[in-house]
Amino acid sequence: MSQQNIPVILLKEGTNRTRGKEAQKNNIRAAMAMAEAVKSTLGPKGSDKMLIDGLGDVVITNDGATILDEIDVEHPAAKLMAQVAKTQDDQVGDGTTSAVILAGQLLKNADDLIELGIHPSIIVSGYKKALAKASEVLKSIAIDIDTADKKILGKVASTALNSKIVSAEKSLMSKISTDAVLQITEERDGKKIADIDWIKIVQKAGKSLKDTSLINGVVLDKEVVHPGMPKSISGAKIALIDENIEIQKTEFSAEIKIEETSQMQAFLDREQEMIEEMVELIIKSGANVLVCQKGIDDLAQHFLAKQGVLAVRRVKKSDMEKLSRATGGSIVSTIKDLKKEDLGIAGKVEQFKIGDDDNVLFSEAKNPRSVTILIRGGSKYITDEAERSIHDALCVVRDAIEDGQIVAGGGASEVEIAMELRHLAESTGGREQLAIEKFADAMEVIPKTLAENAGIDAIDILTEIRTKHSTKGNSVFGLDLFKGKVNDLEKAGIIEPLRVKSQAIRSAAEAAELILRIDDVIAAKSKPGGMPGGMPGGMPPGMGM
Ligand SMILES: Nc1ncnc2c1ncn2[C@@H]1O[C@H](COP(=O)(O)OP(=O)(O)OP(=O)(O)O)[C@@H](O)[C@H]1O
Ligand SMILES: [Mg+2]
Repeated sequence: MSQQNIPVILLKEGTNRTRGKEAQKNNIRAAMAMAEAVKSTLGPKGSDKMLIDGLGDVVITNDGATILDEIDVEHPAAKLMAQVAKTQDDQVGDGTTSAVILAGQLLKNADDLIELGIHPSIIVSGYKKALAKASEVLKSIAIDIDTADKKILGKVASTALNSKIVSAEKSLMSKISTDAVLQITEERDGKKIADIDWIKIVQKAGKSLKDTSLINGVVLDKEVVHPGMPKSISGAKIALIDENIEIQKTEFSAEIKIEETSQMQAFLDREQEMIEEMVELIIKSGANVLVCQKGIDDLAQHFLAKQGVLAVRRVKKSDMEKLSRATGGSIVSTIKDLKKEDLGIAGKVEQFKIGDDDNVLFSEAKNPRSVTILIRGGSKYITDEAERSIHDALCVVRDAIEDGQIVAGGGASEVEIAMELRHLAESTGGREQLAIEKFADAMEVIPKTLAENAGIDAIDILTEIRTKHSTKGNSVFGLDLFKGKVNDLEKAGIIEPLRVKSQAIRSAAEAAELILRIDDVIAAKSKPGGMPGGMPGGMPPGMGM
């Protein structure tokens, strides 16, 4: 045997390796299956999905990121698509379904070119040029808005809510979302910043979606700990404590020998004294309201009640932080360090009922940028989905306020981009031209899918939008699904933040590039009981939707 023919073994036995075209096809198919899974949910006429996990818990939703997060996929390329949706959700809050559908279509079209013998690296470089151009086109057709105009912001919120199960109440929901975001918006260095973490969302099944409301202040779903405490305090000075207000139990078992009853009494007295001292320190700081992240024992509650303090215990860390920001108080981790300056300020703290449950509202806080959205609805499924939908609405209003720019929805922007890309393709020439054309075709999957999901002929609609766009100044014409025809969507108020569109296209193109560059998949042998690391040959499981 000549030296050249001696096989060199690099990989461990059991390693699964797929290479070249096979690896590419495999990844592309898995990514396309993910896009197929969410395609039917796109747009106002899209349907919803019911997802049931291993424990039987049910989620009913239309939200792309939620669907892809809930379905447990195994294929690495499918996981990457779920990641695209998550990134889109984290960064801009809406457009997750669009991003995934676009990525799937970009890959499908790339696959056609691979079949024609075009190398993936040529496709990748064509797609890169197309993405740069698409971003440029989007900027050029973006419309500046008055970021204080509630009507326009409400329309942006409405468009995001159109596709949601809760859209029957979209006028109320969009008004609440707009008001909430405007209230927390601040100006820093001449720029508007809307940090939606300021907005607390509380949901409680009962009544109906119509009873959803915006509350000025922070609501804690907790009750005042002791019946002898006041239920309402004006001019509240609030201590925010992150320490147990009780005698610490030792972690090891200790034995205390008590020989006389008087010793026993002395021991109990000492315990009581220690609790009294803790309460005294709180009173001395000037606090009349106590919010504790940990426990408050019975004795401490009794002393606090005697002193007229309103106290709440076992408050979530995130709520402690919201209260700290709203009232200007600092969270103190040892009571000994509590000072007057650490106390938060609120005009009013009061217990109130939502349904049968007690809650505590902190209102007229030092910082007016603190609001709570209280979601009501017939069942937990509804309030859960309402929360996800309101989250989308809050995000798009934020995006619109921070950037001050919107584009038309209903596929209008995608058709405009496609048209400009076809011009770019012509002037590019060569094999890259084909890739840019395929990118252009992929953009049109959005209007096509919007039409298909509504049972409207997609080809007719697409041709009509293209014809409109061939006249300059018509980039806002798209599919109006309320009218069932092509319309001026800026006038119709079907508008989206520029940020949502540009991010969706960018994430889709980047995911497609990443997948196209892979020509070798080396998967370690799966460990018994662990996640199978091998490349599944076909579609990811659970994709038969
Ligand atoms: N009245 C309408 N007519 C036509 N298109 C609309 C209308 N309202 C919204 N759309 C379009 O629906 C699409 C958004 O659909 P949807 O909200 O289901 O998906 P997404 O925003 O991509 O993802 P997700 O909301 O799940 O994160 C956008 O293209 C938007 O322009
Ligand atoms: Mg949406």
